[in-house]
Amino acid sequence: MSKRILVVTGGGDCPGLNAVIRGIVKSAKLDGNWEIIGCVESYNGLLKDKIEVMPLTEKEVAGIHVKGGTIIKTTNKGGPFSFPVQLPDGSWVIEDRSQLLLQRLEEMGIEAIISIGGDGSQKISLELAKLGVNIIGVPKTIDNDLSCTDFTFGFQTAVEIATDAVDKLVTTAESHNRVFILEVMGRNAGWIALYTALGGGADVCIIPEIPYDPKIIAEKIATRYKGGEGFCNIVIAEGARDMTGQVTGTAPTAIGDEHIKLGGAGDKLKYELEQLGVQHDIRVTVLGHLQRGGIPIAYDRILATAYGVKAFELVKEKKYGNMVVYNHPEITYVPLKKVVEKPNFVNPKNDSFLCAAKKIGISFGD
Ligand code: F6P
Repeated sequence: MSKRILVVTGGGDCPGLNAVIRGIVKSAKLDGNWEIIGCVESYNGLLKDKIEVMPLTEKEVAGIHVKGGTIIKTTNKGGPFSFPVQLPDGSWVIEDRSQLLLQRLEEMGIEAIISIGGDGSQKISLELAKLGVNIIGVPKTIDNDLSCTDFTFGFQTAVEIATDAVDKLVTTAESHNRVFILEVMGRNAGWIALYTALGGGADVCIIPEIPYDPKIIAEKIATRYKGGEGFCNIVIAEGARDMTGQVTGTAPTAIGDEHIKLGGAGDKLKYELEQLGVQHDIRVTVLGHLQRGGIPIAYDRILATAYGVKAFELVKEKKYGNMVVYNHPEITYVPLKKVVEKPNFVNPKNDSFLCAAKKIGISFGD
């Protein structure tokens, strides 16, 4: 009888998810007696009253490494330990459905789960591992904020998209002598903003790890203009913090969503600069989910495929409770426990790329 692996994609979608799924399915097929099943919409496929799973054979995964999103769908709300349930009166309660999940895994004869997700998903993986579930994690997120790995897949695609945006904004900024603020994703980690500022050649880069002083940014802008001529490009992470540590966004409204909906950091900075008397025309562009959608670049397809292959290999070797990681030049693994200990943030003191950016004059507003 073939052994069954359940594949789950959790959290926000990310370019490369499908390439991981394809890597798992193709390597399992070559190995022999395995059946791969996709759990639809993260764990919800096994947590809802009606089970929703889909077979993942070579037919379903043919050519999907090129496709954005995830063919098995995802959600960043809830999970087995906090599943939102609507009561007949319309109100919502959060239920722990982990026992239901265990029961259904047993009934379906699932040998192991491969959970492709970011920090939230890998915390769930660890909790499930503690309950005895055979589970392997795969690091996903455009934010690149998971530790123990050189890169999460999806990050480089987001950087490519954001760098392309800076390239476009530079020409229009220069033509109109404008200041352009590009707001990019990055909830707590400034990796996308930092790499984009370096790749696109921005003048200012604001990241969550370094609270910014708008006065310093106004001074930097002044150095970019001579007799009214000039332009300035600013990249700001959505999770940017002012000197009081405040972020910009709105409270979550969806049930089961714990996070502030970030947005508006660019507009806030524009307002602050105008209040400080900056006279130049300041325009704000918010890149938003364009950074997450669409075709993964080759780098992410390659990394994601190798992650999928390794995840299957770990299941085969029964090395459960681990997450696949990339430690150049090796695709290897680390215990989930270690991964969730601390996130991967830009070190404001000695990150090599941050230091390089500073050495070419990029201001971080500090
Ligand atoms: O974690 C990835 C990410 O894209 C963050 O950069 C961003 O804050 C968040 O997801 C947005 O999530 P949502 O699509 O639910 O608004």
